[in-house]
Parts: sequence; structure tokens; C-alpha cells
Amino acid sequence: MAFDTPLTRMFEIDLPIVSAPMAFVAGGRLAAAVTEAGGLGLIGGGYGDPDWLEAEQRAAGNTPVGIGFIAWRLKDRPELLTQALALKPRAALLSFADIAPYAHAVKSSGARLIAQVQTVAQARRAAAAGADLIVAQGTEAGGHNGLRATLPLVPAVVDAVGPLPVLAAGGIADGRGLAAALTLGAAGVLVGSALVAATEALVAPAAQARLTAASGDETARGSEVDLLRGYDWPDGYKIRTLDTPFLAAMRAAPPKDQAAVEALRQAYEAARADGDLTVTPVIAGEAADLIRQTAPAADILQAMAIQAEQILRARPGLKA
Ligand SMILES: Cc1cc2nc3c(=O)[nH]c(=O)nc-3n(C[C@H](O)[C@H](O)[C@H](O)COP(=O)(O)O)c2cc1C
Repeated sequence: MAFDTPLTRMFEIDLPIVSAPMAFVAGGRLAAAVTEAGGLGLIGGGYGDPDWLEAEQRAAGNTPVGIGFIAWRLKDRPELLTQALALKPRAALLSFADIAPYAHAVKSSGARLIAQVQTVAQARRAAAAGADLIVAQGTEAGGHNGLRATLPLVPAVVDAVGPLPVLAAGGIADGRGLAAALTLGAAGVLVGSALVAATEALVAPAAQARLTAASGDETARGSEVDLLRGYDWPDGYKIRTLDTPFLAAMRAAPPKDQAAVEALRQAYEAARADGDLTVTPVIAGEAADLIRQTAPAADILQAMAIQAEQILRARPGLKA
């Protein structure tokens, strides 16, 4: 495969594909599989569990991988970043908060600093704070996101922060999406939902089966999941998941008081323990239609790369 972008050059990788640092889903095995397949794998440091983090960083073995954090959680627990950087990740991706307080620590560790942003203004701030790479994330994405859509956000961020390289995220799950992202001026893509279906992902087979049967029509974006899990997300961020009857009912009739919230939390926790997918959602985005089978991460990356290369060589829409 012949990809040559600022991303592939920065990390000396073959494919312009980075795997998303998905909390609870992207452990060391998935991250290592992505790097071994020619991309760059990131471990999902998520909300921050120091023992989990260390075990997963070690599970990647000698394969170079990066790490990602939900940055507003680091405010009260900066030691998590120190701990992760001590194991010398290739990159640290920080999302959903100002990266400035952590830029020096990341860069002086030798890791590349990646900022995942949801607006052009955030991209400018992250660039000024010293990011080596910006991920422009559209609202199509699985997991938490903002309101802008990938297609217009990516070129706007490219224009705003260039020549700093930009990755596209949100709704990219096949070679068509990868080719489109490169056409928009991105140096590559950050892929989450498609890798929820990877055999190396820390996802139950029933949840993967739900995803591979789902359509992007079935996703919903809301705050119910965060209320139930007790995560106090900053304003503006909501989580996109495959919807469940339980969450839809909660949206239609929000709990009126704390006692009602507690009752819902207990039901949610019990369902999570049972793996009841009518209550707890599979976290995935609008690309769900494009994800039709579970497969090793290497196969998922290969298929994306081959299809993108074919499209880019064919120059669709142009006369020969
Ligand atoms: C299951 C899941 C968990 C996620 N967890 C995180 C996270 O912990 N931190 C983060 O920065 N982004 C997280 N994301 C968002 C990804 O970083 C990325 O923006 C998104 O997956 C890209 O869109 P896509 O899902 O359409 O590929 C998550 C996404 C998914 C699907």
C-alpha cells in the first residue's frame, strides 16, 4: 500500500489510520493489533483506572502504541498522565478539554501530543497550545462528541491550523470514508466504531452482534448514559450510542427527582452486569451501517486501505 501523508511520516507507519482511544473497549491487545497492521493503536485510558491502564499498556508488549484520555478527568488526577507517560507511549491523545495544562508533560516525555477537538475554535487553541496533530471529530462519531459534522468540519480545521496535520474522525468505517478524509485535506483518520467490531476489542460478542446488525439510523445522542453512570460531563458534550428502549423511555420521561435517578441507576447497573442490551447501549456512531462483521483489526484496516487506494487511483467522477 502506498500511503504517504504527514501522519504516516510522523509515526513511520504504512497506513494513515489511528485507532480511537475508546474507554473500556480499546485495551493493549487492540492497540497493538492496529499498530502491527500498519496503523497506530491507542489505548483508551478513558476515565482513568491506574491498575487497568498499567495492565493494558503492558499487554501491548513491545509494540509501540499510544494512549488517550478524557482530558477533563485529568484535572483532579494528573498523576494518571504521569503514570501513562512513564511507560513511553508513542502518542498521547487528549479529548474534550483544553490540552494546555498537559502539553509540556506529554511533549517532554517524547510522546506526540494529539488533541481531539469538536470545533474550529478549539482546533486553533489546541494548535496554539502545542499539539502535534489535531483530530477534527464530527458529531457522527460513536461516543462523546459535539455538534459539528465531519464533512465540513475537517476542511475548516485543515484551513485553520495548517500546516499542522489534521485527522478526520466521525463516521469513517470503510475505504470510502478514508479516501474522502484524505480528499478533504486530512492526513489520516481516527477510527472508533469500526474497531468495536474487532475481535481484539474488549466487547462482548452479543454487543458486537448488535452492532453488526445495526443501522446508523438507530443511534441517539444524549446525556442519559452519563447521568446513569454518574459522569459529570462538561456542557456541550453528549454521547452517541445505539439507542435502547430503556434510554428512549428515559428521554421521553426524564426522571423528576434524585430518587427516580437512583432507581434508574440501579436498574442500569443490574442490566450492565447481565449484559442486557435493551438497557445498556452499544457505544457506536452513524457508521454502524458500514460495519457488518466482526474481524481481526488487521483485516478491518486492510480492507479500508485497499478500498481507499482503489478509489483514489480511480479518481471517481473524472474523465480518463
Ligand atoms: C466505544 C467508544 C468509546 C469511545 N471512548 C472514547 C474515549 O474514551 N476518549 C476519546 O477521546 N474518544 C472516545 N471515543 C470517540 C473516538 O475517539 C472517536 O472520535 C470516534 O470513535 C470516531 O468516530 P467513529 O466512531 O464513527 O469512528 C469513543 C468512541 C467509541 C465508539
